[in-house]
Amino acid sequence: MKKIAVFASGNGSNFQVIAEQFPVEFVFSDHRDAYVLKRAEQLSVPSYAFELREFDSKTAYEEAVAALLAEHQIDLVCLAGYMKIVGPTLLAAYEGRIINIHPAYLPEFPGAHGIEDAWQAGAAESGVTVHWVDSGVDTGKVIKQVRVPRLAADTLERFEERIHAAEYQLYPAVLESLGVEKR
Ligand code: GRF
Repeated sequence: MKKIAVFASGNGSNFQVIAEQFPVEFVFSDHRDAYVLKRAEQLSVPSYAFELREFDSKTAYEEAVAALLAEHQIDLVCLAGYMKIVGPTLLAAYEGRIINIHPAYLPEFPGAHGIEDAWQAGAAESGVTVHWVDSGVDTGKVIKQVRVPRLAADTLERFEERIHAAEYQLYPAVLESLGVEKR
């Protein structure tokens, strides 16, 4: 059975959708006060949190993260709103076993504001992408992506909601396609 860990920095709604369908070994947050940690508690998923600033370097921080992954024998790391760039230390240990969800149709609108950027650009459609993580920002090989049109009546809020709804469909579908067993 493939063991997964989910990394999230804030809200954690994608984590929750995943954890409701798949056994999650643990969730990791790089913010000790992230809401995702409350969700984990409610769902009885073990969690770990520590912050980059508590370490001497990003290398030391990522060594601690990699040690956690090794200790739990994690097969697949699922980034879901993890707002840090994965650095060389973690990539050296786990490249090819880290995936990320991005709220746009890559390579369109990479970066931290995929939804707002598509909205501001007036794009007729955007989408959601799950991709392998490499050393670039949202540049890794696409696993699966889906289009989300912008509707005439959309506000940014509604558009955002529809993007998130697409995420909640896409991430579980990708995990299944990668052979992660459901609970
Ligand atoms: C999602 O839109 C995801 O695509 C992006 O960050 C957001 C995280 O939301 N990378 P949540 O924390 O899962 O609610």
